[in-house]
Amino acid sequence: MVYKFLLTIAILVVLPSFGAQNVAGQKYYLKYCSSCHGKGNRGGGLASKEEWKSYFSKEAELLIFLHEDLPEIVKYLNSKKFKNQKRKMLKFLLEFASDSDSIPSCNN
Ligand code: HEC
Repeated sequence: MVYKFLLTIAILVVLPSFGAQNVAGQKYYLKYCSSCHGKGNRGGGLASKEEWKSYFSKEAELLIFLHEDLPEIVKYLNSKKFKNQKRKMLKFLLEFASDSDSIPSCNN
């Protein structure tokens, strides 16, 4: 009885950190990036893991620089919303980075 209870708690705590977070990250990517960079899991394939980390470091200044001609993206990247979402988005992108072990992207 107690075990069942603990198991349920464990599942409730552990599962979201595997699945749900990346679903959120993918959702953010689809909403804000996929119109230009492609749908589904292809986005991560734009860059390697190390590249993604540097794009997202220091308040994403490199990403902002790359998109400086695109005011809407710059606005999003500078927003509080992005600050709250970027950790999950990065996690999603790392999972499908060009040098990750996950399902290969379509643009290899
Ligand atoms: C309105 C279209 C548009 C949107 C939306 C957009 N990008 Fe880009 N992105 C571009 C263009 C155009 C370039 C090429 C810039 C250059 O090379 O000078 C680029 C370049 C990049 C690069 C550099 C790698 C490469 O292929 O040149 C990365 C990484 C990137 N974008 C990630 C993102 C992420 C993450 C988002 C969502 C937060 C995003 N982009 C949203 C248009 C867009």
